[in-house]
Amino acid sequence: MSAPAAILFVCLGNICRSPLAEAAFRREAERAGLAVTVDSAGTGDWHVGEPPDPRAIAVARAHGLDISGLRGRQVALEDFAAFDHVVALDHANLSRLRTLRPEGARAALSLLLDHVPGRAGQPVADPYYGGPEGFETTWADVTSGARALLRRIAEGP
Ligand code: 4NP
Repeated sequence: MSAPAAILFVCLGNICRSPLAEAAFRREAERAGLAVTVDSAGTGDWHVGEPPDPRAIAVARAHGLDISGLRGRQVALEDFAAFDHVVALDHANLSRLRTLRPEGARAALSLLLDHVPGRAGQPVADPYYGGPEGFETTWADVTSGARALLRRIAEGP
């Protein structure tokens, strides 16, 4: 049997979008009975060691998930060897990942919504500077992305 697929979700701060993507993906994998390794990180370092934003914790809780135990971390070079898929939430973070990724690394880079039919090229908008309603949009987007990505991984290469 091959090793479980390993997926890392990456946004800017690792306190809003990528922890929600991590949680949504973990739940979809559990529902599908698929063993996966899943984590999230930020390209920035401002929130290293911090729990997710309270608005992200609240929207996850409203959808039945507790993400309060997650802690922010910054993406590291080792991640490109440890993960099969490093999935950016928006274009700026995808560009940063392309710059960081060592030549020949294991990790395939993608934009989360590229996996969703009809939404290729769309970012998951940063909800950090907006109101709580933005986090419902984020939740809907990361859930669509998680489902589509899981389907792709479950189907295999
Ligand atoms: P995230 O949101 O990238 O979805 O975690 C942000 C969180 C913090 C900041 C920006 C975006 N910040 O500038 O501190």
